[in-house]
Amino acid sequence: MGRVSPTTPDLVHHADSPESPWWRDAVIYQIYPRSWADSDGDGIGDLPGIIDHLPYLRDLGVDAVWLSPFYVSPMHDAGYDVADYRDIDPLFGRLADADRLIDTAHDLGLKVVVDLVPNHTSSDHPWFQEALTAPPGSAERARYLFRDGRGPHGDLPPNNWRSVFGGTGWSRVPNPDGTPGQWYLHLFDTTQPDVDWDNPEVRDEYDAILRFWLDRGVDGFRVDVAHGLVKDPALPDTTGSMHLTENPVGHVMPMWDQDGVHDIYRRWRAVLDTYTIPGDPDSQRILCAEAWVRPEERLSHYVRPDEMHQAFNFPFLETPWDSAAYRHVIEASLRSNDAVGAPTTWVLANHDVIRHASRFGLPQDGQRRNGIGAHDPQPDAALGLRRARAATAMMLALPGGAYLYQGEELGLPEHTTLPDEVRQDPTYHRTLGTDEFQRGRDGCRIPMTWRHDQPSFGFGPGANTWLPQPDTYGDLAVDRQDGIPGSTLTLYRDLLHYRRKHRFGHGSLAWDSLTSTTVLAFRNTSGDGTRTALIVTNFGPDPVALPEGDVLIASGPLTDDGAVPTDTTVWLRLPTTQEETR
Ligand code: GLC
Ligand code: MG
Repeated sequence: MGRVSPTTPDLVHHADSPESPWWRDAVIYQIYPRSWADSDGDGIGDLPGIIDHLPYLRDLGVDAVWLSPFYVSPMHDAGYDVADYRDIDPLFGRLADADRLIDTAHDLGLKVVVDLVPNHTSSDHPWFQEALTAPPGSAERARYLFRDGRGPHGDLPPNNWRSVFGGTGWSRVPNPDGTPGQWYLHLFDTTQPDVDWDNPEVRDEYDAILRFWLDRGVDGFRVDVAHGLVKDPALPDTTGSMHLTENPVGHVMPMWDQDGVHDIYRRWRAVLDTYTIPGDPDSQRILCAEAWVRPEERLSHYVRPDEMHQAFNFPFLETPWDSAAYRHVIEASLRSNDAVGAPTTWVLANHDVIRHASRFGLPQDGQRRNGIGAHDPQPDAALGLRRARAATAMMLALPGGAYLYQGEELGLPEHTTLPDEVRQDPTYHRTLGTDEFQRGRDGCRIPMTWRHDQPSFGFGPGANTWLPQPDTYGDLAVDRQDGIPGSTLTLYRDLLHYRRKHRFGHGSLAWDSLTSTTVLAFRNTSGDGTRTALIVTNFGPDPVALPEGDVLIASGPLTDDGAVPTDTTVWLRLPTTQEETR
């Protein structure tokens, strides 16, 4: 790392080619279908509801949507337990609605990414049902990880793996004659049996599922638990936490980030590439890895040229509110991905983590398990929102792509006082009363707020919502923020507008000399050098004076003399004389 001086900005990342394909700088908005818009009043969001609200996303200024699973499912893990990968759950609509959604989005200029859940099926999936009635050693069982138990009577699990959701990672099934039989592996809920990716039949089936959705016109897949598909074949006992977000550096677990996963992604990339129309980069279909992998260099393996296109940058999402920590993660991410020619995919929120407007209002000690309950220490809401706005403004100025999670554009906080009786996340129920207790992820999955004066705040036609909304969501509704200067929605629209207009996602990144232990400052310069913006985030208590330039956007009010106050990010357009020279 070079020393930063006022005259030679410290270049970390070169600008992308102006011809680079859409996904390298796309901003993709995650819709959690059950919580975005409900058309029929059953309290659960659905595809017709999404279709009706898509123009909102065009106006917000995003490039694409990613939809969490909408497939047929018994909903033991909110649809991440898929019973039929080729049809829509009746809760959400019908296959024709998915087709209409894809067409409508495309007409609005939005791409559509769907969720692929290949690590496990639902236990309701016909394959698993067949496996239950078939004998040990059969082809039906070989699609999953069935093993004999340990101990003289086989009544101990085959190894000591835990479920990510708490409890043991193995469940025992009865033999056809009713006597206790084999065990099957489930890294998540008991209703989510892991499939065996060494089995060619499994590989062929998921190829066919990819094609099914590619043929319907989807632009890509977000790949669930992408680091988990291949297990160490010896299934050895292990030590360490199974909690996905606690995956430590340098401790390779036998179920995570095994080198064999990369063969699968090479195979899928080849399938997707057959859909590219020669000479039309806009036709490229993409894969995005949900891989909780550290360090950044290891994560970049998922986005080598013949593998996936994107991988969520979870080290960035998990960074505490600290200037040096951001500087480190931004630089390590850009350098690792540059080494393989991939863009970096920034993200601050999703349906599995505490919303960042609340997360940043908690003590920043780095340990953030999911969920906050009414009797837990409560976040500082104003502080959290101020920092969340500053963090987003920083993120959207970084080169690469970014994912947004529904409602963050309104500054929605976590529901931190949800009554335990209404919790639905299996992690809550599986860990209750144990020393691995997790409150669960329901608090970040609360139905969206559109209109302050309507029952369910406009989420649906009536008052029904599958989880209760907190009162605070009323004042944060879209109609309360729309067109209001200083609102979080206006901030997001402005950020997305400037970002697209000035192609920040394609720009270079150089550290600026304002960077210090309390200030993060970088320059984003366009490839042709005609535009440089200075982005300053102040993590410290004292205001930071800005150099000469035009303030494009600020995440909060500046001081009376135009300095950047604490927990605020500013985008400043620098006069052309100060442009990057390298
Ligand atoms: C991923 C999903 C999460 C789900 C889990 C099991 O982490 O994002 O919501 O519970 O995989 O499919
Ligand atoms: Mg509905």
